[in-house]
Amino acid sequence: VPLHLPWIDAINTLKKQRGAVIMAHSYQSPEIFHGVADITGDSLALAQAATDCDSDLIVLCGVHFMAESAKILAPDKTVLIPDLEAGCSLAASITAADVRALRARHPGVPVVSYVNTSAEVKAASDACCTSANAVQVVEAIAAQSGSRKVIFLPDRYLGSWVATQTDVELVLWTGTCEVHETFTAQQVRHTREQFDTKVVAHPECSPEVLAEADFVGSTSAMGRWLEKEKPTRVAMITECSMADNLKNRFPQVQFIKPCNLCPHMKRITLPNIHACLRDLRYEVHVSPEVSVRARAALDRMLAVGR
Ligand code: 13P
Ligand code: SF4
Repeated sequence: VPLHLPWIDAINTLKKQRGAVIMAHSYQSPEIFHGVADITGDSLALAQAATDCDSDLIVLCGVHFMAESAKILAPDKTVLIPDLEAGCSLAASITAADVRALRARHPGVPVVSYVNTSAEVKAASDACCTSANAVQVVEAIAAQSGSRKVIFLPDRYLGSWVATQTDVELVLWTGTCEVHETFTAQQVRHTREQFDTKVVAHPECSPEVLAEADFVGSTSAMGRWLEKEKPTRVAMITECSMADNLKNRFPQVQFIKPCNLCPHMKRITLPNIHACLRDLRYEVHVSPEVSVRARAALDRMLAVGR
């Protein structure tokens, strides 16, 4: 961390001068998460924070769909992302035209889309959800529309996990998270045997991996589970920074790391956050017509809450 200190100081000074708020997802590196972020959390917490943030300038340290969501929820604010190429394999797996084709194939069935999608896909959906509230949103939308079926996209693993938690029938898409899909059940079993450890997994992992876990939940839910269970050792089956960022909060817990890095999240660095604040780049734009419809889908999610 000392190596990072000059960057952290420079960013925090510039941030004050600009009156900016820095938001960072749980998968950002510790020097960003602990060093410069004002608001941290899972994708739901960041979306909620964008709606009640009182600064006019938001720097979103996360991937592009998160910055788009912030812009849709706070259209009058300037939302910057330090690297426009910070994408997501889930968001890239589906287009608005795909959503329209799904609707044509399943007339009258409402669409719930994971926030890991483009603004256009959100605009073509009835409601959004995150991994923290997917079950609640699916059930709320099914009840509101009087349908026992919901189209759930784009993550087929999150979708199949949600399907185990509800009686609502789900029509799934084929998307996967390139970070979570690579974990295997064998790897998890091996870790548990070798380290005699509890296992926590993100619902973007395959059903075989989730079947091996003691707890399945969003990045924030993982933190709450640790608070409640206070395990001696835990393996976090998710992005590597998750465990790194939780270490400060849970010094008594030993974190075992079979983990994967998200190459998109890791595009955000201290130097490009500094350049972002210095040059006010890169601004995220969403066309007003898309934004209005995507906002309605996000608002339906926020009304359900966590
Ligand atoms: P959350 O648990 O924060 O929704 O994370 C999902 C994810 O993979 C974000 O990239
Ligand atoms: Fe997308 Fe997976 Fe990276 Fe999250 S971890 S941003 S879902 S590729």
